[in-house]
Amino acid sequence: MLTDISKSLKDIQEYLYKITGIYLDTSKQTMIKNRLETLKKFPVFEGITTTGELIALASRNAQARQLFINAFTTNQTDFFREKAHFQDMLDRVLPSLFKNQFNIRIYCAASSTGEEPYSIAATVLHASEIYNSSCNVEILASDIDTSVLQEAEEGLFTLSPTLNLPNWVNMDKYFDTLQKCADGTRKIRAKDELKRMIKFFPLNLFDNNYPFRKDEFDVIFCRNVLIYFKVHDQNTILHRLFRHLKMNGTLYIGHAEDVLGLKEKLERLGNKTYIKIKE
Ligand SMILES: C[S@@+](CC[C@H](N)C(=O)[O-])C[C@H]1O[C@@H](n2cnc3c(N)ncnc32)[C@H](O)[C@@H]1O
Repeated sequence: MLTDISKSLKDIQEYLYKITGIYLDTSKQTMIKNRLETLKKFPVFEGITTTGELIALASRNAQARQLFINAFTTNQTDFFREKAHFQDMLDRVLPSLFKNQFNIRIYCAASSTGEEPYSIAATVLHASEIYNSSCNVEILASDIDTSVLQEAEEGLFTLSPTLNLPNWVNMDKYFDTLQKCADGTRKIRAKDELKRMIKFFPLNLFDNNYPFRKDEFDVIFCRNVLIYFKVHDQNTILHRLFRHLKMNGTLYIGHAEDVLGLKEKLERLGNKTYIKIKE
């Protein structure tokens, strides 16, 4: 598709950074070329032969821009990834919230194909059962990539038999098995009870404002997405999210991530789990 690719990778890097905050350094050249290749199949890119034309098209055409963004996101995720966070929700966060309020709101930023918010929902249902709670829990889940959001909303997954789940998780309670495959994997679908709890919507964390109220959330999951941004931008995004976390609310970040300039305002519990203690 693109004839001038080698000399124009920098333009692609800069454009991607400008619209998403995703920063790919120069070592990612092969990856950039491969991701651009995947755009060939979409009719909207027909006739595009230079990166200049590609960027001009994406700048004026929302569909092309979204496909360009979708091509450059890395969506790796899994059910109950970084298990300690779900254990902490079950043992500490939810019992206390159930005692003190009726409406509980949880935000999952960068939810990818949905395994993370469905794991949150399954944890809430399990906790509601063992603590006998009828609280109303809403989970908001967003991502910049519209193709993963569509998958997440469908709630269809392939479950590997080697997945290491917490021992209290019974996937059959929350997912229907549609097919058992010869290799041991299972095609599963989230039950309505789980789906009803989650609202998916697109959101670019690099945007200046988020469509939430101040102090809207009791819990925020922002895991394994900060790593794609420059440190300065990670700090800005964390501060933006922090505004929407309630006092005493919990923030979970990924194992390779840091709370940077928020250290003084958060109490650190270990396992990348933080509590808001100051405005
Ligand atoms: C590696 S996945 C992490 C998924 C999940 N949070 C987890 O920990 O398993 C990173 C996700 O961040 C999303 N992402 C990247 N840049 C983003 C941005 N500017 N705004 C919102 N989401 C973004 C990607 O689309 C991708 O789905």
